[in-house]
Amino acid sequence: MPTNTPMLSIRNLYFSFDSSNTISDFSLDVEKGSFTTLLGPSGCGKTTLLRLIAGFLEPKSGAILIDGKNQSGIPTNLRKIGMVFQDYALFPHMTVRQNLLYGLNVKKHGRNTPAISADEKNEKITGTAKFLYIDSLLDRFPHQLSGGQQQRVALGRALVLEPSLLLMDEPLSSLDAKLRTQVKDELRDIQKRLGITTVYVTHDQDEALSVSDKIAVINKGRIQQQGTPREVYFSPANRFTADFVGRANFLSADENTMVRPEWISVQKTEPGTYPEDECGRVSSVSFLGAATMLTISTPMAKNGILTAQADSLSADLPAAGDFVHISITRRWHLSD
Ligand SMILES: Nc1ncnc2c1ncn2[C@@H]1O[C@H](COP(=O)(O)OP(=O)(O)OP(=O)(O)O)[C@@H](O)[C@H]1O
Ligand SMILES: [Mg+2]
Repeated sequence: MPTNTPMLSIRNLYFSFDSSNTISDFSLDVEKGSFTTLLGPSGCGKTTLLRLIAGFLEPKSGAILIDGKNQSGIPTNLRKIGMVFQDYALFPHMTVRQNLLYGLNVKKHGRNTPAISADEKNEKITGTAKFLYIDSLLDRFPHQLSGGQQQRVALGRALVLEPSLLLMDEPLSSLDAKLRTQVKDELRDIQKRLGITTVYVTHDQDEALSVSDKIAVINKGRIQQQGTPREVYFSPANRFTADFVGRANFLSADENTMVRPEWISVQKTEPGTYPEDECGRVSSVSFLGAATMLTISTPMAKNGILTAQADSLSADLPAAGDFVHISITRRWHLSD
């Protein structure tokens, strides 16, 4: 097998629960060792795609290949896949050790998998627990762990099986904002150290941009664009991607020209100093910490409103009601 075979290759996949297609003409290659994110709004088909990859659902047409091998007809337990779900699904009445062991005990029922000795199981559990820094927690129950620790146990339960492909469905959604950032960085670090091919699902664009090697932006079961985080952010292929991957402004002069808030610079001025169509009035100011978002009523914007980002510490930060001159420092022309 050539080494450049993608670990996962999804080819022209169609799937439907009822008369309409939930997944349409979906094709995606996931390179070995990469971190690929499926990003899209609620209901766009992300979980359905993971369930198809894992073999819980059968496609209507198209193919799913893992390491070059067509998975049609191969049951979930023989697909070498690890899954981490949104709600962790840890067994509350089992210790961390028993939770980790559970996957190994289930695995031995797979047809082609030889039984694992008790010593081997122990070794795998200890190794995985050390790797995830949960080795001191093996005798605790889930309710005695923090959210981040529970998340690592859920990850451990998937990793102890040494999967070729790790699927994660919104694994951070039940953590608070601070912990989410911390665990997100940990996940990325673990993924890099292990070099495990990962397909990650989120509807959070910031999360997707910060952890992924590649992002597949999805709407209504179809890929809108796939590329690196920088590609989808700076060079969105279409309006949906432009809007979903970050804040996008569209200009009245050419409605296919997209401008990110930080590509706009504003300066307080008096009416009459500049042409009317280069100016606007600040209608609201929203302080976000390092940055401040300004909403500006202006004929420059297609819908009459521009969102601009300013440095919160700027000495002449406009206030609501101020009249401003607007300069655009960068623009991107959409192809559709
Ligand atoms: N078992 C089912 N039977 C019928 N329709 C379903 C079933 N499961 C999901 N759907 C529908 O399929 C579509 C895709 O659902 P899916 O769960 O894949 O979305 P998602 O992108 O994971 O959304 P979220 O971000 O909210 O988790 C939705 O319209 C959903 O209502
Ligand atoms: Mg989902």
